[in-house]
Amino acid sequence: MNKEVISYEDIKVFTTRSEQFHPLNWYKQMLLNEPISYNKSSKTWNAFRYDDVKRVLSDYEHFSSEGDRTTISVKFSEDNFNDSKVNFVTLDPPKNRRGRALLAAAFTPRSLANWEPRIHQVANNLLDQLGDEELIDVVDGISNPLLTIVMSDLLGLPSPDIALFKSWVDILFLPYKKENQEIINQRKNMAIREFFTYLLPIIMEKRKNPGVDIISDLIKAEVDGEKLTDQEIVEMTMAILGAGVETTSHMISTTFYSLLYDDAKLYSELRSNPDLIPAAVEEMLRYRFHMSRRDRTVKKDNNLLGVDLKKGDVIVAWMSAANMDQNMFSDPFTLNIHRPNNKKHLTFGNGPHFCLGAPLARLELKIILTNFLQRYSRIESVESFELEKNLTDSATGQSLTHLPLKAYK
Ligand code: HEM
Repeated sequence: MNKEVISYEDIKVFTTRSEQFHPLNWYKQMLLNEPISYNKSSKTWNAFRYDDVKRVLSDYEHFSSEGDRTTISVKFSEDNFNDSKVNFVTLDPPKNRRGRALLAAAFTPRSLANWEPRIHQVANNLLDQLGDEELIDVVDGISNPLLTIVMSDLLGLPSPDIALFKSWVDILFLPYKKENQEIINQRKNMAIREFFTYLLPIIMEKRKNPGVDIISDLIKAEVDGEKLTDQEIVEMTMAILGAGVETTSHMISTTFYSLLYDDAKLYSELRSNPDLIPAAVEEMLRYRFHMSRRDRTVKKDNNLLGVDLKKGDVIVAWMSAANMDQNMFSDPFTLNIHRPNNKKHLTFGNGPHFCLGAPLARLELKIILTNFLQRYSRIESVESFELEKNLTDSATGQSLTHLPLKAYK
């Protein structure tokens, strides 16, 4: 089944890209005046408050992940794969459990401990390549290559194929555009087929000679006596890419943006006290991970959010707005790494679909920040930088295309 993508523009049209990049005023207004409201253009309910968003995401008895609409324009796999157990992202408990458990087998604390030194090495190599250059482009020099190299390394793909891998990933993340969606879908389907053809022999080889990587872990994974087929492993890999690449590289870019433009003193604070880095990571996820939203379909008539919701209605839960709810976070529109409860953000979702990659995403941001802070004593913004000219549509909303900064050793 080809899901209909809920167009962001149907819900809210912003006049500038920058406004859409960090729509704090809109969140403020919606939280105050229309915390739960029906949007006629998109034919969706929209929930903004913390408690409501949390409930919509976690109460699968009333709000289902199954349904024919979606907020995501990333294609995980070919349409005829949709019924497979791998497609747990759009299934409710208990149907999602087997697929989720099989993937979770590759995301254990032990895997994370294995990955940590490898991510450190990739981060260090990347920073080495920047050399003594004072002017650094965070997007081209750090976020994009870091994620591509880390993910292909963790999956166990041969390193000469990284450029190929990156070209497929770029196509899979092409943003949703009403006008030319047909062509975009054709390109995505083609990329999926090519990726499939590329990956299949690698998986067959790893069955004979397993390595220390996600694909080998997926080959070994077993739940209730069931294991994944080669085809299902390809699909799982697509799901990991779909869920984990652009999100994390976006997170890294916006974190550096924040260090330059939200709180210029924060960089030196973190440098003199690196123990604060984990708290900074959480606050960046709360404050700077905007445009994060997920949809659910109402399973049975209810009034749980104070309005009459009918079976079949679609509701969009705005996690980034919930992260700005003053009933949960005091002074929410200010970046403050010292807030005691910043880990309570909903950026990774909540409930049965809580992000499986959250520990990895946190680790990646922590490592790149740690390594960068160790190398450079201070950073400065570049005067000629204009945010509006350095943003583009992406699967996660508006993403930075470039972010220049001056870094001094
Ligand atoms: C900052 C980075 C990330 C953000 C903000 C993010 C956000 C999310 C959110 C909100 C969900 C819940 C979806 C829902 O409730 O319908 C989710 C699910 C998921 N994420 Fe992430 N994610 C990130 C990074 C990653 C990474 C690095 C991976 C793996 C490599 C990953 C893998 C997944 C998977 C497999 C699911 C589906 C879980 C399920 O449906 O049971 N994510 N993510």
